[in-house]
Amino acid sequence: MWTRRHLVFAVIIFTSSLYLLSSNPHVEQVSSNLRSLTKHASSPPSPFDSLETPNANHDTQISETTLPLGAPAPGFTIFDRLYVRNGTLFAVTQHPEGYPDLIYVLSQGKNKGGPDNIDPTPREMQVITPTQAKDILGDYATVIEGTSIILYDTSQFMAHYYHWWGEIILGAMRIYSALSFIPGIETPLPVPSRLLLPNVPDMSWRDKAGVNGPLMHAAFPSSSIERSDYWKDLSDIDQTFVFERAMLVSRVAAHKSPLSSVWFKMISSTMNVTAAVDFWEPLRRRAVQNMIGYLPMMNEAGTVMSPPTSSAPIVIYVSRQGGGRRLRKEDDEDLVNGLKELEREGICELHVAKMETMKFKRQIEAVARSTIMVGVHGNGLTHQIWMPPSARSTVIEIFYPETYLHDYSMLARNMGHKHYAVWNDTTLTYPAGQWFKGVNEGTRDNFHGNSIPVHGKTVADLVRQRLRLEVIPEF
Ligand SMILES: *[C@@H]1O[C@H](CO)[C@@H](O)[C@H](O)[C@H]1NC(C)=O
Ligand SMILES: *[C@@H]1O[C@H](CO)[C@@H](O)[C@H](O)[C@H]1NC(C)=O
Ligand SMILES: *[C@@H]1O[C@H](CO)[C@@H](O)[C@H](O)[C@H]1NC(C)=O
Repeated sequence: MWTRRHLVFAVIIFTSSLYLLSSNPHVEQVSSNLRSLTKHASSPPSPFDSLETPNANHDTQISETTLPLGAPAPGFTIFDRLYVRNGTLFAVTQHPEGYPDLIYVLSQGKNKGGPDNIDPTPREMQVITPTQAKDILGDYATVIEGTSIILYDTSQFMAHYYHWWGEIILGAMRIYSALSFIPGIETPLPVPSRLLLPNVPDMSWRDKAGVNGPLMHAAFPSSSIERSDYWKDLSDIDQTFVFERAMLVSRVAAHKSPLSSVWFKMISSTMNVTAAVDFWEPLRRRAVQNMIGYLPMMNEAGTVMSPPTSSAPIVIYVSRQGGGRRLRKEDDEDLVNGLKELEREGICELHVAKMETMKFKRQIEAVARSTIMVGVHGNGLTHQIWMPPSARSTVIEIFYPETYLHDYSMLARNMGHKHYAVWNDTTLTYPAGQWFKGVNEGTRDNFHGNSIPVHGKTVADLVRQRLRLEVIPEF
């Protein structure tokens, strides 16, 4: 028996199936009939625009993939119109010879370091001609709008504050910013819409301290982070999707860059791609503002003007004395005394930060109010990415004498902070285009030991010099 309820239900099903059809260009005729039908039935207009003005962006003919920057940095490759179907990425081009070998783009989604070769196979990605595309991808693709960052690694080297922020996100933003130099690309560049992790099935991309996730949502509050279940959903639909713009990021591919044997870091390959000036600053400001509720402002001299105001530029000494790798006890005291002396002279305000005892928010706040960061080589120096760049901004990294790694000097270069390595009473710094040759970890007992020497006065003199760097002329 058909009741009125059944009838209403049937009408709903009928109209919604027409609605679904209406987004397909082949049934345009049907949907305009539907529109006139609905008009006659004097129903209210659709609250969304999809009935009245089919979104031309949504179903689109297969057209060619382009590389707006070319492929200047292995492991960080931007594609316009990158296709995906059944879990395989496709670049469509008449000129496959213009494409980089895919080993410089991605790898199989497997851990590094095992016995197997994990270079990419046609299952991960293919470069195909428009003719092949007709067979493989069909006639149209659904557009995934905006910029997608596809991080095509396992979580093996993700779950770490430095790896995530100092390499993956920093490298991606540096290369993304280079698009602003390409004629015809509109600026400001939009914030990436999403970060996709096709090879991460679970929470394992998150670091143990639990800071990377919250910081991501502070830095990119409207962007989503999607894991392998998203990728599988697209595969299961078994239709073609096209990323309007996608950056494929791959640590394995990045390390195939010859520059990787200069600096030994994932971002090595990005370092001689010219980045936009201050490319990090919008992200830094969003992250800081959203984490702590305000953006600390400083005056010309570096004195913090946002309450609580500081008496002078802030020097933050990131103390590791509560941890493993640390200074000789008497040298730590000597260093703090040297910096306190500067404070007494009114040259700086000293904050000794034992990060492990501070809430994460307070750590970010302390750093975002600082002009100079001093610390023993270690993850605490990753925090410099939230320190505002300025003529005086400086990172002073204490190493066991004669040892050197590039982790934090590379960050400083990207941030616009001047970096100094300190070997007891010797300071080393390198101008743009020059760097410490090689790496030197010395012996484990020294490099990671608990008796790293430092001459406090050397550091204090350096701080004094840096803070006086641009004394505003007095009349
Ligand atoms: C999708 O990919 C899987 C895994 O490679 C394969 O087994 C399956 O046959 C593919 N499905 C279609 C419809 O091509
Ligand atoms: C990039 O860096 C390498 C390594 O120092 C250098 O040899 C090369 O000329 C640089 N390339 C560009 C385009 O600057
Ligand atoms: C560190 O430098 C000071 C000042 O030059 C010197 O007296 C001290 O012996 C040095 N320490 C080490 C371990 O080299």
